[in-house]
Order: sequence, then structure tokens, then C-alpha cells
Amino acid sequence: MTRVLGLITSGAGGVERWFRTGLAVPAVERGWRLAVTLTPTAARWLDEAGELGPLAELTDLPVRWTSRLPSEPKPHPPPDCFVFAPATANSVVKLALGISDNQALTVLCEALGLPDVPVVVQPQSNEAQRRHPAWAGHLATLRSAGVLVVPEGGPEPVLAELDRLG
Ligand SMILES: Cc1cc2nc3c(=O)[nH]c(=O)nc-3n(C[C@H](O)[C@H](O)[C@H](O)COP(=O)(O)O)c2cc1C
Repeated sequence: MTRVLGLITSGAGGVERWFRTGLAVPAVERGWRLAVTLTPTAARWLDEAGELGPLAELTDLPVRWTSRLPSEPKPHPPPDCFVFAPATANSVVKLALGISDNQALTVLCEALGLPDVPVVVQPQSNEAQRRHPAWAGHLATLRSAGVLVVPEGGPEPVLAELDRLG
């Protein structure tokens, strides 16, 4: 059966240029069925860049950025693996703290509690954000929860991790 990749992104610079072509398309080419969830910021940026339509064409599952109504069924099946890239400093911090104040973080915070489901996170932050006194602690929290934190710098390190996970 085709494995489902929970592919999540956030409002980090350049996401509107490389998220689809650099991550989503290569993941599909590797045989993954995409369950895409965006932060509200990423949704605005991808919408403005005309990326939402082409992204939706890559998967039979809806591209999400809002929560479902209680009367609606869950639009995505449970993913076999999660990739959050690029992940803003804002969303990395919220994930480490367990704050689920949008659909992307709701998915990710729950993912951290699922046994045996890999979660790959690629932060994209600037020097000032990395110098925040709590930053290193938040990354340590994620690593201690089993998150695979991959180096910053475009899709290659993320795709290498996907290839390693098989
Ligand atoms: C053009 C632009 C580029 C940005 N790039 C980054 C970035 O690379 N990393 C980051 O942590 N924040 C970046 N930000 C700030 C985030 O977009 C902002 O913190 C936002 O609240 C993140 O929301 P989200 O984490 O829910 O997507 C950028 C903002 C703008 C306007």
C-alpha cells in the first residue's frame, strides 16, 4: 500500500518558491502519497504565489490549513512519516512547547506522541533567532522526543532523510 507522508510547512522565506518543486514533487516521485498541511502564513504565501493549485494536483488528499468542523470526517489518513520543512523559529518553538494553535501544529504536536512514526523537522531561522536563550533548549526538547532535526539549507537534507527512512 502507498505510504502517506504528512508534509507540513510554515511561513519561512522562500517556501513559496521551493516547497512544491523541491519537496512535494520529489516526495511524490519517491512514491509517497501526500497529506499536506500549511500554517496560515504559509497558506497565504503559497496562495499569493499561485502555488496552491499545482500543489493540490500532486495528491488526492486535500491541502489543509484550517481545522475541520466536528461534523466532518478527518480529511487525512494517519501518516506513516511526517516532514516539517521549512519550519519557522516561531513554529519550532510552539511545537516544542506543545502549542497547537493552528492545524499544522495540531497535526505535528499529535505526531510527537505517536509511537514509531518518524518526524523530520528542518528549521529555517536567522542568527538572532538562534541566539534566543530558549532556542537550544527547544531543539533539545524536540530531539529528546525523537524528532530528526535536519540541517538548514533547502530540500536536499530533507530528501536525504526521506531516502534513509525508505
Ligand atoms: C519575507 C519573510 C520571510 C520570513 N522568513 C522567515 C524565516 O526564514 N524563518 C523564520 O523563522 N521566520 C521567517 N519570517 C517570519 C515568519 O513568517 C513569522 O514569524 C510568522 O509568524 C511565522 O508563522 P508560522 O510559523 O505560523 O508559519 C519571515 C517573514 C517574512 C515576511
